[in-house]
Amino acid sequence: MRVFSKRPGWILGASLLLAGAASVRAIASPKDDVLRALHDASVRHSTDIHFPNRVGALGDPVAGQAKFGIAADGESPDDSQAIFEGQSSIAGTVVSNGRTCFSCHRPYERLGLPPPPLTDTIPLTDVLFTGLEADTGDEPLGFVNFNQLGLLFHRPGRFNPLLPPESPFRRVFFWRKSTPILNTVFTFGNLGDGRMRELTETARGAFMVHTQNGDLRFDDLLPLQDLRDVAAFMESQIDPPELAALLDPSDPLHDTLVDDPFHTVQATTPAEKRGQKLFAQNCMSCHDMPNVFSNRAHVNGPPLLFPPAYGHVMDIGVSQRNKHGLEFRRYDAGTGQRVPVVIPLVKIDGTIVPWTVTDDIGAAATTARYEDLHRFKVPQLRRVSELGPYFHDHSAATLEEVVDYFTSDWYNQSPDGRKHPIHLNAKQKADLVAFLKIL
Ligand code: HEC
Ligand code: HEC
Repeated sequence: MRVFSKRPGWILGASLLLAGAASVRAIASPKDDVLRALHDASVRHSTDIHFPNRVGALGDPVAGQAKFGIAADGESPDDSQAIFEGQSSIAGTVVSNGRTCFSCHRPYERLGLPPPPLTDTIPLTDVLFTGLEADTGDEPLGFVNFNQLGLLFHRPGRFNPLLPPESPFRRVFFWRKSTPILNTVFTFGNLGDGRMRELTETARGAFMVHTQNGDLRFDDLLPLQDLRDVAAFMESQIDPPELAALLDPSDPLHDTLVDDPFHTVQATTPAEKRGQKLFAQNCMSCHDMPNVFSNRAHVNGPPLLFPPAYGHVMDIGVSQRNKHGLEFRRYDAGTGQRVPVVIPLVKIDGTIVPWTVTDDIGAAATTARYEDLHRFKVPQLRRVSELGPYFHDHSAATLEEVVDYFTSDWYNQSPDGRKHPIHLNAKQKADLVAFLKIL
């Protein structure tokens, strides 16, 4: 109790929002795993490979595709069933800007966006751009960073009902790529920083954020079944398709996929085979979900008593590098000036640190935990050759640049990179890239 009694209520609220509304217990020892499990003694930190509480199992993927904004052909936009607007008892009249999930998650781009600049392939008259104010508000860099870098302005605390209007956690923002939605069903924690526990929660937030300009929630226009259908559709995006066996312990292929992490990867050339070995030695300390290569660690609750599992996030130094020199001071439309955002973060020993935001602080913007600064989830790597540019801030254009990053000082001196140092010569790097290209 000692640690948490020092927290102002709204900070505690922010972390509970991430972790689920369970009772907060005293911390026995200041260890990260202990902190992650403290919300409920029956909740276990686990690397088990099973997915028992999937929300998508409660929805219909075909209905979900329509609500996502994709026509029955699986390719074209169709907004007829997707637009959420009307009279909300919470937000009043909600008028949609016409955007759907399709606007930023396109089927022929693995449910992501094409590489920037976006105007090379998407006309300025598209709702993607005409509705941009819903995301960027009056941020002057909103359009240029979205178009040139593919990074969308985002305030993670915008719809958090536990935060008072004046809370700096409502003002903190970041610039994020529109994540492809692929093998999400095997990845614990959603969004770049893993701040969403599951896909109905993520879909609800996405509908409220991207389709209108207000900051009021309109949960009553978003029936749970619609969100479950959209979640079911997103969970159905599995590639290669054999990976679906991981979801079902009774499937004959299940144990094979668990025991042979490369069962569905066909390394044939000598370079690919050497690359696979290098990947196993250097990368699988984090990308350890067999055949998917996201991260296995998660908090595992008892069935039906706790929200679905959420994952482990890591600081590998990407945001501190801030390769694009992104702006993190808030634009004040009244004065035309930039103002630093300062948020109170709570350290594990209970002290409160006023933190001036100068880069993307990752999970800490939601949990208010100092230890979560710059932490991001470990993404899945299947079909990764199609998913560039890479990292949450698009700071690596190619897989060669990704591998260069993982052998750089930025990585090796980062908090989680120090635990898993990586040093490769030029030939090894080329082999590793050859392997990544066949994933
Ligand atoms: C205006 C662009 C835009 C629209 C429209 C949009 N998204 Fe997203 N989506 C993003 C961005 C940007 C991210 C990454 C945000 C982050 O990392 O914080 C994202 C991430 C996600 C993720 C996380 C995937 C993962 O692997 O963690 C899911 C799921 C998702 N969106 C679902 C939806 C749904 C459902 C809709 C429709 C209701 C939607 N999105 C509409 C831009 C958009
Ligand atoms: C210490 C944990 C860790 C290790 C070791 C690690 N990664 Fe990652 N990896 C991450 C995290 C966390 C991210 C997300 C970073 C971000 O977006 O800011 C990531 C992102 C990536 C991405 C970007 C994927 C995308 O869609 O943007 C690729 C590719 C990747 N890693 C490949 C590798 C390779 C290859 C190795 C081995 C050389 C490796 N990783 C080792 C944690 C790790």
